Amino acid sequence: MEIRCPRAFLLPLTVVFFIFFFGPQFLFASEKEYTRPPPGCIIFTKHDRSESEPQQVHVSLAGSDHMRVTWVTDDHEAPSTVEYGTAPGQYNAMARGENTSYTYFFYSSGEIHHVKIGPLKPDTTYYYRCGGCGPEFSFKTPPSTFPIEFVVVGDLGQTDWTKSTLKHVESKDYDIFLLPGDLSYADFQQPLWDSFGRLVEPTASHRPWMVTEGNHEIEMLPIIYPHRFKAYNARWLMPYEESGSESNLYYSFDVAGRSIHIIMLGSYTEFDSDSAQYKWLQQDLAKIDRKMTPWVIVLLHAPWYNTNTAHQGEGESMRKAMEQLLYGARVDIVFAGHVHAYERFTRIHDNNADSCGPVYVTIGDGGNREGLAMSYKNPRSPLSMFREASFGHGRLRVLNHTHAHWSWHRNNETDAVVADEVWLESLSASKTCMGQQPSSLKDEL
Ligand SMILES: [Fe+2]
Repeated sequence: MEIRCPRAFLLPLTVVFFIFFFGPQFLFASEKEYTRPPPGCIIFTKHDRSESEPQQVHVSLAGSDHMRVTWVTDDHEAPSTVEYGTAPGQYNAMARGENTSYTYFFYSSGEIHHVKIGPLKPDTTYYYRCGGCGPEFSFKTPPSTFPIEFVVVGDLGQTDWTKSTLKHVESKDYDIFLLPGDLSYADFQQPLWDSFGRLVEPTASHRPWMVTEGNHEIEMLPIIYPHRFKAYNARWLMPYEESGSESNLYYSFDVAGRSIHIIMLGSYTEFDSDSAQYKWLQQDLAKIDRKMTPWVIVLLHAPWYNTNTAHQGEGESMRKAMEQLLYGARVDIVFAGHVHAYERFTRIHDNNADSCGPVYVTIGDGGNREGLAMSYKNPRSPLSMFREASFGHGRLRVLNHTHAHWSWHRNNETDAVVADEVWLESLSASKTCMGQQPSSLKDEL
């Protein structure tokens, strides 16, 4: 491992040119008034395998009984194949997939392979090898019934703090990793996407990682590089086609049979009522039968509710556009990132406590190089139940159709300590809420 501090990093000349002439606000205009604590050091994870061997291996869910295996090779001729089976070294199945690569100014990516494998049995460990060579990996498929456990971490980055968080995540078993945006903090420096892929490989090759994008994934420069999400879309292909979405920037999937429906929204793509994302969300919510699917969970990046002074109001236009849809569908929980801290709210609708609204949680505390968002608005809003600026991760253990346990685990040096926890009841179990869906909202869905 090689450690680099941000001050020692040289941005591409084009970025420097733009920052010099236009100021840094063109990148993240609404962040300009927020001053974060001193940044941490980036850990650059080196490539130590041969050109044809797989690196940056990660897996994700791709339909009800399939997984997608993604990896990178320096060798552009390496085959996009995955051999797999339920015993180590014994591969009785093989699948072939697709491959892609991209360029970004003077950077050329390795070959990025995506292979969908299955059908797979639930709650089963599979051993697999990518491209016919290199190390063997293994993952466990999620169970098809309750209980099921999710880890939730946003704004991960690649620092010592990130390493602590991942170590704590790995210290206790779970089924699915959910990431509400801001992955690598490569910020135009494409080799950092590769470094991030290598850093997370031990965790991301072992359990499915389901991610949505944050502002750090945009990597767009006005005029000179108008393409958005180029690296993110090439490297972190999610099951959008499987959920009827036309974009990798928003999608949904089911777990625990069809008992839990998870919706990944895009804070940095169009969300107004005439947008493709809005129309897709309407259709996606309308398909949910709460008798079959007692839990509905949403992830997005910029929080709709936030009492930290960082990023105030940045999720407001999306909230105004989409909150009614989520409320009408009786969404249970909304996870967001972006603010580098932890905060849990009560059930809310339209800025008021509402027992039929979602619980809102901000969990942008994975451990990136920008540091923590230390400052909160005071006095504290009565809607905010717990808030703390520390790194950590969350765990949502859904026990059955009606009850789930949420816990937030603060990074305390070498240990992870449960600092906040709460039992949640599915809104589908509430006769009051399910019986009082406003007719206008039902019509909208
Ligand atoms: Fe962010």
